[in-house]
Amino acid sequence: MKTMDKTQTGFAPTTAPIPGEQPIVSVENLSVEFVTDHGWQRVLNDVSLEIKPGKVLGVVGESGSGKSVSSLAIMSLLPRTGARISSGSIVVDGIDMRTLGERELSRIRGERMAMIFQEPMTSLNPAFTIGEQIAETVRRHKKVGRKAAWQRAIEALDEVGIPSASDRVHRYPHEFSGGMRQRAMIAMAISCQPKVLIADEPTTALDVTIQDQILQLLRTMCEDHGLAMMFITHNMGVVADICDDVAVMYAGEIVERGEITELFDRPRHPYTEGLLRAVPHVYDRNELISIPGTTPAPWDMPQGCRFSPRCPYAVEACETAPLQLRRVEDRLTRCLRADELTLGRIK
Ligand SMILES: Nc1ncnc2c1ncn2[C@@H]1O[C@H](COP(=O)(O)OP(=O)(O)OP(=O)(O)O)[C@@H](O)[C@H]1O
Ligand SMILES: [Mg+2]
Repeated sequence: MKTMDKTQTGFAPTTAPIPGEQPIVSVENLSVEFVTDHGWQRVLNDVSLEIKPGKVLGVVGESGSGKSVSSLAIMSLLPRTGARISSGSIVVDGIDMRTLGERELSRIRGERMAMIFQEPMTSLNPAFTIGEQIAETVRRHKKVGRKAAWQRAIEALDEVGIPSASDRVHRYPHEFSGGMRQRAMIAMAISCQPKVLIADEPTTALDVTIQDQILQLLRTMCEDHGLAMMFITHNMGVVADICDDVAVMYAGEIVERGEITELFDRPRHPYTEGLLRAVPHVYDRNELISIPGTTPAPWDMPQGCRFSPRCPYAVEACETAPLQLRRVEDRLTRCLRADELTLGRIK
């Protein structure tokens, strides 16, 4: 990819922190509640995760498992009314997000964190050119003049592989293809050189080839800029392409966390096994099996393991007491039987 001379804008070329052991994002025992027809209900329960610089954490699970709520909580973007964090901590780049006021949060979100969504048009304004929108973002969060912000917009578009960036910067979102719009969104997200990027199903709406290109681009952005990325998807196949670590969510909880290859080789939660068996190519193609049953509603959670009513391995003990995430060898799992079960590929 072409790189431009960035000395003219004052933006450092790639201020990539060296990937280290200290996580940039650290979430501990986070629980979130929403007001529903059934009163306050806990939709996120005891979620703990961390993301290190230059690494991608995949967050995967069925619809309604709490992936987006987790990301919104980390960004401090939960609705102001009808939602509350009932417990837990969120530390981003050493800052305890729960102690900050709205002004500080807004500054931190712009400078250190960015988010991209499935549908770029929800974030891009059709009435302004791509360049105006990126430059505006830069000016809002960095102390730079109009000209430098515009130059930064061109650089960012160039960085995400948009050809003829200095020309395309004058175009409107509708003049871009779906894949190009997603690239423009990524350009906007990285324009202020954040340390954390949250991507919520960013490639779901794209065809497979473009999806692959965007995944590669995100991966490169992470490595080149030392970005810590949270990548949300319901697709285990996509997780395999881009992530270093995975957190599997079910019914508002993380049920398994681990390094990607280890988790794929030997899942340590039956729900993870179910998700893997439902992906073409990951395991035997002729043996695709969907997980029977549906996710329980927040007001109708099973007493013990939340997955137990759908779990082919459940025993009586699984149905009685809630389980904590616990370490079993290289993994964190909420399965009571993780030590004795051999899960994974269909033999
Ligand atoms: N604003 C809200 N008010 C009430 N409940 C909500 C709200 N937003 C989310 N929820 C509930 O929180 C739970 C988790 O939702 P979330 O959007 O995080 O799911 P998800 O894993 O992102 O699903 P999907 O794959 O469909 O995007 C669901 O039960 C959902 O109904
Ligand atoms: Mg979601």
